[in-house]
Amino acid sequence: MSIRSACYETLVIRRIYTYPASILKEVAGDVTDIDGAVAKALDDMVETMYAAPGVGLAAPQIGLSQRVIVLDVDHENQGKHLLKLVNPVIVESEGEILWEEGCLSVRDYQAEVQRAERVLVKAWTVDQKEIEIEGTGLLAVALQHEIDHLDGILFLDHLSRLKRDLYRRKLKKMEREDREAPPPRRAMI
Ligand code: CO
Repeated sequence: MSIRSACYETLVIRRIYTYPASILKEVAGDVTDIDGAVAKALDDMVETMYAAPGVGLAAPQIGLSQRVIVLDVDHENQGKHLLKLVNPVIVESEGEILWEEGCLSVRDYQAEVQRAERVLVKAWTVDQKEIEIEGTGLLAVALQHEIDHLDGILFLDHLSRLKRDLYRRKLKKMEREDREAPPPRRAMI
């Protein structure tokens, strides 16, 4: 937990739900009013994402079933390219890219997923502006990954049933042994 000195608002690092929590399977609802509660949720998500650390986080991951995501794929210059998006929608996508993904909601597992290489996303900002974000590479992957979260989809759902089954077994073994996940090799999204 930390205090933002400018407005003395208390930011809260929220608990991140992990697979197989049922909230991660739900389709999140559209935000119909960008009010203070939405702004606060976004700020808490940013804090939670940086603390994790991760490059993206979607509201369902902290137990909120609403269509908001945060991303910052440039941790070298933290905050400079921070995105807080409300009701994001992919309006264009092209090309193909294979990316090894990890997710803050999927413990101790990374796998290659095929995504569009470039996407154009329309969304709303906290101050009620409609914006377009164009992303390639990691930003494109992260946008698709986070928007998937809003539709109840995890990167595991893009893998073969065999791979998913192997992961489920690995997870059960980890839980039986009460083992902590080792630090991830990749940026978590
Ligand atoms: Co994720």
